[in-house]
Amino acid sequence: MPPTSNEWLDPAAAAPDATARFYDAVAPGYDAQVDGRTDVDNLRLREAFCQRVAAAAGPGASILDFGCGTGIDAAWYAARGHRVHAYDLSPGMMAVLRERCSGEIAAGRITTAAGPLEAMERALGAGDPVAAIAANFAVLNHVQDPGPLLQRLAVHLQPGSALVANVLNPFYGRDMRHGWWWRSALRSLGQGAIRMEGRVTTYRHFIGSLRRAAAPAFAIESVCTADGRSLFGSLGANHLFVQFRRRS
Ligand SMILES: C[S@@+](CC[C@H](N)C(=O)[O-])C[C@H]1O[C@@H](n2cnc3c(N)ncnc32)[C@H](O)[C@@H]1O
Repeated sequence: MPPTSNEWLDPAAAAPDATARFYDAVAPGYDAQVDGRTDVDNLRLREAFCQRVAAAAGPGASILDFGCGTGIDAAWYAARGHRVHAYDLSPGMMAVLRERCSGEIAAGRITTAAGPLEAMERALGAGDPVAAIAANFAVLNHVQDPGPLLQRLAVHLQPGSALVANVLNPFYGRDMRHGWWWRSALRSLGQGAIRMEGRVTTYRHFIGSLRRAAAPAFAIESVCTADGRSLFGSLGANHLFVQFRRRS
């Protein structure tokens, strides 16, 4: 999980290779750290997110799990009959997925790719575009400018279909009580996101910035919390579900 407090502050880190190194290092303990936490409701968030993606894809339809991590969601989708393309920047996270999902991979229900984005593009190749793209638990928050990435992802998604992202709420009330949130916000003025420096850097994108970054390939269709509250009632939520619709 990216930091939600200043516990990991370390201005030395940035860039995708630093992100990959960070996740390679945390991969063995990731599941316990994220889904095993008792102080936050990550399991409920994950279930609500996966349900949303499965509904967007339609029964049995193919899903690209972008930034799939250790494969918790990929296993969930595959168990419900979806064909899953799992991709992650971090080979370490992918190694955990490959162990978790060895049966599904052997059966061809999950395909995998790790490393630079080109690895995903090669793996998807000229195959049929997927019915939905998922990006759970702050994957897009590691990308400073999601615009070029979203345009490249759109190529692999059926026109009219959805990309569903779980992103960190830039205006999470509990974070806003801390000085580090205000210092980060001030340093990030005019950048379209609040940049949080740490062992891994995150960018808490404003919804308006995401909307601009997504065009022309996508429009934002909805933004809500895991329990369905609208953006205007989201101060108490650390995570937002953003649903992008690929333009036809
Ligand atoms: C907080 S983890 C979430 C993992 C998984 N989606 C989950 O729900 O548990 C963020 C993941 O995004 C991946 N990631 C970060 N930047 C990425 C990028 N540009 N392309 C693909 N994956 C990326 C990381 O390697 C990491 O596995």
